[in-house]
Amino acid sequence: MNVKTMSDQKLKNRRVLIRMDLNAPLDKGLVASDARLRAALPTVRQALDEGAAVILMSHLGRPREGAFDAAHSMRPVARRLAELLGRPIRLEPDWLDGVDVRPGEVCLVENVRFNNGEKANDPELGRRMARLCDVFVMDAFGTAHRAHASTHAVARFAPIACAGPLLTREFRTLGQALRAPARPVTAIVGGSKVSTKLTMLHALLGRVDRLILGGGIANSFLAATGRNVGASLHEPDLLQEARDILREAELAGVDIPLPVDTVCATGLSDQAQARERDAGDVAADEMILDIGPRTSRNYTDILMDSGTILWNGPVGVFECDRFGQGTRAISLAVAESPAYSIAGGGDTLAAIDKYGVAEDISYISTGGGAFMEFMEGKKLPALAALEERAM
Ligand code: 3PG
Repeated sequence: MNVKTMSDQKLKNRRVLIRMDLNAPLDKGLVASDARLRAALPTVRQALDEGAAVILMSHLGRPREGAFDAAHSMRPVARRLAELLGRPIRLEPDWLDGVDVRPGEVCLVENVRFNNGEKANDPELGRRMARLCDVFVMDAFGTAHRAHASTHAVARFAPIACAGPLLTREFRTLGQALRAPARPVTAIVGGSKVSTKLTMLHALLGRVDRLILGGGIANSFLAATGRNVGASLHEPDLLQEARDILREAELAGVDIPLPVDTVCATGLSDQAQARERDAGDVAADEMILDIGPRTSRNYTDILMDSGTILWNGPVGVFECDRFGQGTRAISLAVAESPAYSIAGGGDTLAAIDKYGVAEDISYISTGGGAFMEFMEGKKLPALAALEERAM
């Protein structure tokens, strides 16, 4: 990673604009999970300790560009971040023409996605952001896969553009895990659709020794191998693709242990009864909503015997406790395994929170889509912009 870093810059008395990923889930106007805010804190503290005038910017959700929208205001984030930091953080509603912030102070500007041109990576918008600062720090790993004005264009025009400590740590840790992992390497890829994780599945085949599949993705693979999946979520159009992946895995010596039993129901309602079924033995009106106990034990054994674990996605509908045993077993096994474990993605983090295993995961990435794209081996645009500025 050939970029300038914040730690190498003189920040004293300088206006430092930090792009963070403070995109946190909200519930009734409050931050529901502050994990990303806590991950961002050390960078803010470091900049303040070094005497910088600190301007923070982030997106929140996906508002329509061009207008303020109270439901996507950064106000709840400013409030929670100030509590965590233990000092006031002023929210700046109108900021593109300049922000009055002194050394030792910190402010947060309103949602970058309210600005026209943010998503189109408008150079003029990037220039206006760049004018706010002496040093631009890109620290939003979770948004590093977006070439937007606040992650990309601004880096082209700021007097200095560098990587923040969180971004640097994410790239180093994830890069190391992909380049020189302790073997055997096991990846867990769960979630609803093969189509959204197709590139990642192909990329992982070149890197892992075992690939555990869960959720709708596993259903598509079960259907591809001739098992009846009843009314389960799966992608009939991708069955050939799934068969190709299985063949590719066999040639590469990668083991893909498909579920041998499942937990099924005719719906998610409380009335729908959960039944354990052998894989393939699913009634026409039933859906597979979790892996079964024998599969959980197989997967646990594999995870306990791994050197590195990469985890992205739950293996069942864990939001509903009747279908959460598989994801719970996976969470506990990842936590108890002696392997170096890396987890990323919104649903995965929610599972880690739900089963209380965060302390025992070696590294939890702040990235969702960015984590996936990194695992796919893609060059993330925000990093590319920083590399160009380091030349
Ligand atoms: C995320 O939550 O993955 C990041 O904040 C990126 O958000 P986006 O998918 O709306 O760009």
